[in-house]
Amino acid sequence: MANVTVIGAQWGDEGKGKIVDWLSERADVVARFQGGHNAGHTLVVGEKVYKLSLLPSGIVRGTLSVIGNGVVLDPWHFRDEVAKLKGQGVAITPENLQIAETCPLILPFHRDLDGLREDASGAGKIGTTRRGIGPAYEDKVGRRAIRVCDLAHLDDLGPQLDRLTAHHDALRAGFNEAPIDRDALMAELRDIASFILPFAKPVWLTLNDAKSKGKRILFEGAQGTLLDIDHGTYPFVTSSNTIAGTAASGTGLGPSGAGFVLGIVKAYTTRVGSGPFPTELEDETGQRLGERGHEFGTVTGRKRRCGWFDAVLVRQSVAVSGVTGIALTKLDVLDGFDELKICVGYKIGDQSFDYLPAHAQDQAKAEPVYETIEGWHDTTAGARSWAELPAQAIKYIRRIEELIGCPVTLVSTSPEREDTILVRDPFAD
Ligand code: IMP
Repeated sequence: MANVTVIGAQWGDEGKGKIVDWLSERADVVARFQGGHNAGHTLVVGEKVYKLSLLPSGIVRGTLSVIGNGVVLDPWHFRDEVAKLKGQGVAITPENLQIAETCPLILPFHRDLDGLREDASGAGKIGTTRRGIGPAYEDKVGRRAIRVCDLAHLDDLGPQLDRLTAHHDALRAGFNEAPIDRDALMAELRDIASFILPFAKPVWLTLNDAKSKGKRILFEGAQGTLLDIDHGTYPFVTSSNTIAGTAASGTGLGPSGAGFVLGIVKAYTTRVGSGPFPTELEDETGQRLGERGHEFGTVTGRKRRCGWFDAVLVRQSVAVSGVTGIALTKLDVLDGFDELKICVGYKIGDQSFDYLPAHAQDQAKAEPVYETIEGWHDTTAGARSWAELPAQAIKYIRRIEELIGCPVTLVSTSPEREDTILVRDPFAD
């Protein structure tokens, strides 16, 4: 099975964009399977920088790209992102981009609700991207969602809209917000429907056809395993399953289609938004990592929190996503440190853990147990072979492999796609 599923193995922002772009050149289809425009994937192609939130990265190179049913779609954002990319010279047509007809829509009141809740939560806020992701998934699971296929049946939407607006008007009343203006909503939906519908397809069929013809499918995960609604640091998570298994349910290809699972892992750890982060460094070292790694969110511009590499968390991600191999990114950010620390376990009181306990309070109390490893002073930036890496950098990588129980498939040493050390070709398996 020559498919590849790419997922983030930390809290997102591991550098998936570059790796997906690099792999998409050899893929026949690229598929998003969860999340929405909360994601931020930066692709550097030659002189050009492309910032994608919702569209699969393959679109930049003209590869057939599909948005699976597991994604929540803001149709107005979709239109804007298509326009922005077209402005950068990327051709986007129903021939190279498909949206699953069963995708639930993110509507304007989902975005409002996301913001209202965050503003009302004080210190307990999740730190969401305020893009309506959570409320849209809630309506999907509550069987109230308006989906892409409904855009072709707007005249029949009445009873569905009754249920949806009754639910949201009650919530809005709690925030002293006016009820939803149904006429305005219908007008907005009618306006956007003609733009969206040409892209709406039975994506599950497209992917199954591709599979039966032996085509290579690349599944592009968003966020990271520790933001997974089931396996992440709940409740400080996103509202979708971000693990590799979702490539199946979020597209309709079936579990045998995931192929090689490539976990993207940053050589240190970052997190944006609230929630536990055992190896966080709120000192000069954390600041140095943030500055060297340009750690600002692609979507919200927020400063990312930074800390040492947490092997316990990545080992857990490798297990829950069934990762075959990892891509280690941003190794060059660690250049020039005298010593580096790797978290190998936690202490909560006098109890030791070799995994992250489930309860948020335990997670907040988890004290990292560190192993210290000598750093390196030569640069790793731009290295394209093992021979170009300092011996200590290789030791660091080997120790990570041992601790997480998973081999390194490739190492990325700069945002440039050529600055990559390939150990094993994921598509060759
Ligand atoms: P939401 O997905 O907007 O509901 O946000 C929930 C949590 O996931 C917040 O902590 C966000 O910062 C985080 N999050 C969502 N998308 C991304 C991403 O693409 N990268 C990193 N963090 C993200």
